[in-house]
Amino acid sequence: MTAVQYNPFSAETRSDPYAHYAELRENAPVYRLEGPGFHLVSRYEDVQQVVKQPEIFSSRAMQRMMMSGMSVGIQNMDPGRALDASAMEGLAQLADGLGFNPVEMMTTPSVIASDPPNHSRLRNIVNRGFTPRRIAALEPRVREIANAALDRMLQKDEFDLVADFTIPLPVMVIAELLGVESDRFEDFKRWSDTLIQGTTGSASGTQPAALLMAFKEFNAYFMEQIERRRRDPKDDLISQLVAAEEGEVALTPMETLMFAVLLLVAGNETTTNLMGNGMLALLAEPEQFARVQADPKLVPAFVEESLRYDGPVQMLFRETTQDVELAGTKIPAGAVVLPIFASANRDEAQFRNADRFDIDRDTRGHVAFGLGIHFCLGASLARLEARVGFEELFKRVSGLHRLESEVEYVDSFLLRGARSLMLSAERVS
Ligand code: HEM
Repeated sequence: MTAVQYNPFSAETRSDPYAHYAELRENAPVYRLEGPGFHLVSRYEDVQQVVKQPEIFSSRAMQRMMMSGMSVGIQNMDPGRALDASAMEGLAQLADGLGFNPVEMMTTPSVIASDPPNHSRLRNIVNRGFTPRRIAALEPRVREIANAALDRMLQKDEFDLVADFTIPLPVMVIAELLGVESDRFEDFKRWSDTLIQGTTGSASGTQPAALLMAFKEFNAYFMEQIERRRRDPKDDLISQLVAAEEGEVALTPMETLMFAVLLLVAGNETTTNLMGNGMLALLAEPEQFARVQADPKLVPAFVEESLRYDGPVQMLFRETTQDVELAGTKIPAGAVVLPIFASANRDEAQFRNADRFDIDRDTRGHVAFGLGIHFCLGASLARLEARVGFEELFKRVSGLHRLESEVEYVDSFLLRGARSLMLSAERVS
């Protein structure tokens, strides 16, 4: 037994979770969190075991837990009560005028919350939109979008790299891929932030009405977009989803909507955080900074090490379908398990000097994008955006300095990223 005390929801943990992960790996590799009763899995090998066995560690928990966070709050979650009748009833009362049935929304799993065979059915629909070839073809457009954001940002002596660059870049790209108007990107960002904080933030569960209102706006907007594609299909992801409604896979209209929500949320917050976290790590290592800036060929290694060192997705949910033993700990059937990807990536058993940021290291095997059947659909896109974004940034500034020493992190225990990063540039072209 161990006296480890770990609270993933505290502000202190949010600002630096890594010392806590080290303690968990050392003393409590499967740690049972009092209250919600989550089982947190922190060692590299065990995280692999969890994500490689979807038949034992089901992804349906993703849906159950996010929805429970929305209705009762993440800190008060009781996996046994998640989506129980009273929570459902409370939300159903808010349903008037929403334009959709919230209960149907909560019980329609997207690809990330599905297990085989439904998972393969859903994933196949969008897979071909994300092949490495298709993503590589986007490079010139991503470069244009990056430069347009840099043009605006570099008019200022002092700027917020997050608000001015790492937020607009991925939001514009995913909006274009989906085929929706990129000038609505501020709305997309607002909807996506509301969803993340409302389901996994410290105040989650306190404002289900606000969350449903965000869904309402989002739903109204996307339903209209989907309707337009039904009448007039285009070469974009929404048209691909709409075509699947009529095809063999018979996507339901709610599944189409949930897909669009997932792609929008997964496609922007994460890449924003990758770039912000990477920049913070590089700024703390002036010698490595100078090398990356001088040699664009080092940017991909810098991006991979950023993913390993301080990944945007810290952990996610699974649920046991049977009694199972992991790292000598018995986990009962029906338990909620959280594989901590960000801890696995700091495991000394896998990466030597794991707490050191080192662009020269061999990062192969990092699990920042997960592993197995749910391996991130957008990994090639995220890598492209971060590489191109940094390449263009480093072309245009010769020195970057932080203006604030404190970093405020996004309010979510699942995701990690700086809310803002105020910088000045030495020389701007
Ligand atoms: C640095 C950026 C990103 C990181 C760190 C990241 C991380 C992850 C992780 C860890 C998973 C695995 C989920 C699991 O095992 O349950 C995942 C899945 C997924 N990601 Fe990403 N992601 C990123 C960017 C993106 C982008 C840009 C998109 C879309 C445009 C995207 C779409 C998805 C989707 C749809 C899934 C679900 C795949 C499935 O369940 O089969 N992600 N991502």
